[in-house]
Amino acid sequence: MSRILITSALPYINGVKHLGNLAGSMLPADVWARFKRAQGHDVLYICATDEHGTPAELAAAAAGQDVKTYCDEQHEVQRRAGADFNLSYDWFGRSSSPQNRRLTQHFARVLEDNGFIEERVDRMIYSVDDGRFLPDRYVEGTCPHCGHVGARGDQCDSCGRLLDPTDLIEPYSAVSGSRNLEVRDTRHLYLLQTKLADDIRAWVDSKADWQPLAKAIANKHLDEGLIDRGITRDLKWGVPVVGPDGGPRPGLEGKVFYVWFDAPIEYIAATEEWAEATGASWRDWWRTDEGADQVRYVQFMGKDNVAFHTVSFPATIIGSGEPWKTVDQLKAFNWLNWYGGKFSTSQKRGVFMDQALEVAPADVWRWHLTAYGPEHSDAAFTWEQFQSTTNKDLADVLGNFVNRIVKFTESKFDGVVPEGGEPGPLEAALQADIRAGIAEAKAQFEAMEFRKACQALRAVWVRGNEYLQEAAPWTALKTDREAAAVGVRTGLNLVALFARLAAPVMPETAARIAATVGAEDLSWPEAGAVSLDALPKGQTVSAPSVLFAKIEDAQVAEWAERFGGA
Ligand code: MF3
Ligand code: ZN
Repeated sequence: MSRILITSALPYINGVKHLGNLAGSMLPADVWARFKRAQGHDVLYICATDEHGTPAELAAAAAGQDVKTYCDEQHEVQRRAGADFNLSYDWFGRSSSPQNRRLTQHFARVLEDNGFIEERVDRMIYSVDDGRFLPDRYVEGTCPHCGHVGARGDQCDSCGRLLDPTDLIEPYSAVSGSRNLEVRDTRHLYLLQTKLADDIRAWVDSKADWQPLAKAIANKHLDEGLIDRGITRDLKWGVPVVGPDGGPRPGLEGKVFYVWFDAPIEYIAATEEWAEATGASWRDWWRTDEGADQVRYVQFMGKDNVAFHTVSFPATIIGSGEPWKTVDQLKAFNWLNWYGGKFSTSQKRGVFMDQALEVAPADVWRWHLTAYGPEHSDAAFTWEQFQSTTNKDLADVLGNFVNRIVKFTESKFDGVVPEGGEPGPLEAALQADIRAGIAEAKAQFEAMEFRKACQALRAVWVRGNEYLQEAAPWTALKTDREAAAVGVRTGLNLVALFARLAAPVMPETAARIAATVGAEDLSWPEAGAVSLDALPKGQTVSAPSVLFAKIEDAQVAEWAERFGGA
């Protein structure tokens, strides 16, 4: 048994996440956490909402709420959405927590003590009427390239050119509309990544297990050369920059840390939140001098997050000179596309986690998004494909198997696991194939190859159906009740086994499937020890109500209409 720390990229607070976010970080992290728990490992799965920064301020303003109230509400909304999808977080924290504030300020202090942070003066737009500096995207005006009115200070939405807010013609504040703007000096903290580049590269090189995509992205950034990075912002909402005494820092009053500085620190701080709430220790998960050297740490994220996790956050950790646990393995995902375009939270395009559950149960989504997710390339979501995979893999292959054998037992064998007969060559061949299939599924899960793991699971279910065709207990029953009993008993044992195999991906359905044959064990089966004659004879079985409803063409048409697909 080993200790495994799992984190999935912290979802931004600005609204319920879409299925692309789910498929690219939280869901695979959860499947893997469940797989590892089912093997008996000591797993800690941590996530949180990422609550600071301009997106939070903008979303709150759009909702007409103050940022704190907005974040309180949206955290609860996201916590519930995760629970409804059966995401088995050990803790779902908040980057606005006091723990994260303390730890972020701690990292800044030690980085500065170690000579990796310095103050620099920038020139930025100040809004006299708003009484604040404006981040680039809070300044709007006319694009100097295409004349688009209402271009943002960071980029023109019309011609796509990247802008500096000082380029804009007739600039105004997006906060108030005021044109009373000035360019003023403002002081910020810079993290001197140039000084840390060699140490980061040595650290990346030392991570032999990382997947090629993560290594490639890290090396690309290192090869292009790291730059010193401003880690503070002129915003009100965030972790305040403080002086050595914890009070305002002269020259940097009213500034906060940049959201990407404090967000990954929340992985640690959320563990602290968890520990405080449960009485556990967080340090033996994170401090290598206090036991965390025995922990295996795995991160899940979308590919756009990889640089932050392989270079920026490591700069914070390495620069601290303190014995923090660092990531052993990163699993990065590509994009889930929506009818050729992208899912988008800000543009509300696609299907969002709360809406998805109005359409189909969590497990059906979990299967589709794990078995056909954007793992090694972008994946296109379509309702037609969702219909086809649900009907084939789940209703026809898995659901039908369970229904058929359990119903037959009810009607012909008094609803109990029958005695009599001896397993023969058919069962021996089946057992060998099932053992091989489980070993394959396990190997793919271990390698975090989720699509392949699901293919292997499906192959095991298909093999079960083939067996039932061959053994054909309904035919055998007419001439040889003992032979029929063996077929039925083996089939019922397969049901119990399929539940265990399905549990990491479809936990609710797995429990229901197990219950049909009176089984409770949902641990991951040891391939070599699998027996197809393990259920107690005489054990009562009972057919489930529909496990997986087939998706009809009319529903596909309705959803396409409702969610505006193609
Ligand atoms: N909120 C970011 C996103 O959705 C991810 C933050 S991951 C963290 O892309 F490590 F910084 F927390
Ligand atoms: Zn333009």
